[in-house]
Amino acid sequence: MTSIPPFSPELQNKIDVLKGRRVPVSLGRISFAGPLLLAPMSAITSTPYRLLMEDLGAGGTISELISCHGINYKGVKTLQMLSISPQEKNVGIQLFGEDPEAMALAAKRVEELERPPKFIDINMGCPVRKVVTKGAGSALLRTPEKLATFFSTIRQAIKLPLTVKIRTGWDEESINALEVARIAHQEGLEFVSIHGRTSKQQYRGKANWDVIESVAKAAPLPIIGNGDLVVPEEILKRLSRTDCKALMLGRGPLRSPFLFLESYLTLDDSIIFGPRDYLEVLVRYRHYLEAHVSLPRVIETQIKKHAVWMVAGMPGASQFRAQVFACPDLPTLWTLIVEYFQELKTGPDFRQVPDDDFMEGGHG
Ligand SMILES: Cc1cc2nc3c(=O)[nH]c(=O)nc-3n(C[C@H](O)[C@H](O)[C@H](O)COP(=O)(O)O)c2cc1C
Repeated sequence: MTSIPPFSPELQNKIDVLKGRRVPVSLGRISFAGPLLLAPMSAITSTPYRLLMEDLGAGGTISELISCHGINYKGVKTLQMLSISPQEKNVGIQLFGEDPEAMALAAKRVEELERPPKFIDINMGCPVRKVVTKGAGSALLRTPEKLATFFSTIRQAIKLPLTVKIRTGWDEESINALEVARIAHQEGLEFVSIHGRTSKQQYRGKANWDVIESVAKAAPLPIIGNGDLVVPEEILKRLSRTDCKALMLGRGPLRSPFLFLESYLTLDDSIIFGPRDYLEVLVRYRHYLEAHVSLPRVIETQIKKHAVWMVAGMPGASQFRAQVFACPDLPTLWTLIVEYFQELKTGPDFRQVPDDDFMEGGHG
């Protein structure tokens, strides 16, 4: 693997101070470097971004959802999605599928990889039509009576710890996260992550933290809370007041790559992440992409997407966005990105709750 240049000593120092404040957590048989984890996101949480987020304070990460059938048919693209870097020590692989036997076979194959993950996570939150019409993802929440067999079939096929990520329920009339958590516990799963919306809700409205909290209080196994955690204040509040053993952040860090670290700031801190730090993050991400992705087109697209997400809400963001997507090649794109961050006087106000809707879609 190509070597990854270090961060500047100034940035690395800020990272080390804040990372040093993390308290490791154990959720069942699985331990993480801290209680804030990176949520699974399709086409985003592959090795380069997972490595970047671990560098920037994520206590653990989860791959995007991967089809159990794709694994069992040995689809080339699917098998590439299972790739884990030797540096990744806290990663889970997320599988989706409707058939317990097919899921069990795929889980076994993942366990037998040369570099297996730390745990296997089942996707039971995806609301996307293509997935739910086949009975996978959040559709599994509609038949809780089948879940004990579903979980135990997968569980018995592997030695790796097994976990599940769910929605609060299929719809408002069938909120059943606690029932699912009890079945998961009974069948030996380690933890349940809950995205606080129903499947029907997709990404509309706000995550229902009342449901997450009440499940976390009553559930017999660790619960990870997830949904709309985008500013450090909210994350700290949830962390200190909740019965959730950990929290998962998805869209927040796409916009604020320092969100994990900023959640460990105290009122007396003078640590601030400025424009140069943001640029350094993109530089490192580019290096991780170049080390793990062979197609230049994919590298360019990923850099474009992340640069645009990162500047959302910063000065001149819409003009920057238009310029980025008009860029013909990577060198031109890179010049544009460097110039943008060099001209920026300060970083964004990370304490400000964004007032726009950011990325209302996804597979969980
Ligand atoms: C682009 C995108 C892709 C997603 N893909 C997945 C996925 O593959 N598996 C999954 O369980 N959840 C997926 N999700 C859901 C997130 O893990 C998370 O539950 C959701 O975004 C709410 O958390 P947030 O408000 O912190 O983003 C995705 C979300 C987004 C925005």
